[in-house]
This record gives sequence, structure tokens and C-alpha cells, in this order.
Amino acid sequence: MLGLLVATDPAWTELATRNLPALLIDHAHCEMKAASNAMSLVARYGGLHELLSTQVVLRLSDVAQEEIEHFRLVVREIERRGEVLGPPPVDDYASDLRKGARRLAWTERSHERVLGLADRLLVGALIEARSAERFKLLASALEGDALQAFYAELFASEARHYRTFIDLANDVVGDEAVVRERLVALYEVEAGVVRDLVGRGLRPAIHG
Ligand SMILES: [Fe+2]
Ligand SMILES: [Fe+2]
Repeated sequence: MLGLLVATDPAWTELATRNLPALLIDHAHCEMKAASNAMSLVARYGGLHELLSTQVVLRLSDVAQEEIEHFRLVVREIERRGEVLGPPPVDDYASDLRKGARRLAWTERSHERVLGLADRLLVGALIEARSAERFKLLASALEGDALQAFYAELFASEARHYRTFIDLANDVVGDEAVVRERLVALYEVEAGVVRDLVGRGLRPAIHG
């Protein structure tokens, strides 16, 4: 799905749906991180108009706003179940993905800042793709549960964000072929991270 090279192990879906309180707490933190990541890009690059056009700044702000709305929805669901948010569970997926991207040399020669920003956008796209894949699995597995529609809606939203991040990377780099080539390499990194996490043991977490 969405170009991902490795499908999620069906055992993850089973584990996740058997541990919904833990899954929801991890999920809420993921939405919060997605919102802060989008705004941290605006904070870091927003003043550099040659890197981030006003259009890109606005689209990142839209993503952040939607992620905050997702965060609110998940927190309300946690509250409805009589649970509390709690501290963020360990989340190696995103940090391993970022580390993997940093180890991957760019073949393109461009300004380091442009490539750094493009990588942050493309890693963002992959995180959205993996989240979308897992939300879809949850929506199918939770047939008949109140959370089914919730996850089906979030699937559609994160799949849209995946495309947004790729569009933004194209906008920033200004060369679709270069972005495509980089994305192909990053998909390999993402598959390696997922296989590695499975090797460490599945967890009831969105990227666990
Ligand atoms: Fe989200
Ligand atoms: Fe998203």
C-alpha cells in the first residue's frame, strides 16, 4: 500500500486490537508528534523563503491543524474508556527511520539545507504511509466496533498527508525525478526498520 515494500504482520493487528487502551495511548502520542513535526518544519525553515514558500508554510500548518484534531479525537476516545493519556511509549520507528535516512548518501548535489528539508518531508511521507496502512488494518479488524469508522476516516486522512508530503518535497527540490529516486531508497530503509522492529518483538503501538 502507498508504495510500502513490507506489509504489516497480521500478528500485529491481532495484538493491537487485543490491547486497544495501550494502542490508543501510543496513537495519541503519534498524532501529537505529527502535529509538532509539521510545525517544527515551519519554525525551522519558515523564515527562509527560498526554501519554504508561503504555500508550503500554509500546507504544513493545515497538516498540523488536522493532526491536532486527530490528537483530540484519540484523547477523547481514551477518556471515554476511562483511561488517561500517560507518558509516551517507546517509539523507535520514527527515530530509526530518520537515522537510516541520514546514513543514506544523496546522489544529487544540491544545497545541504534543501536536501535536509526534503528528507524530513519524505520521511514524514513514509510515516504517514505506514500509519495509513495500519489504520486500514485496524478499520477492517474492528468491524462492528465503534472504532471502525474512526480508523477508516483516519486512514483516508493520513493517506492524503502522505501525498501532501511528497508534493511538498517536489516543491522544495523542484525536480520530481530526484525526489522519486530518493523516495525509492527511503522505502528500502523503511522496510528495513519495520523488519528490524518485528525482530525485536511486536508491540501494541501504531508503529510497534
Ligand atoms: Fe493524524
Ligand atoms: Fe498525518
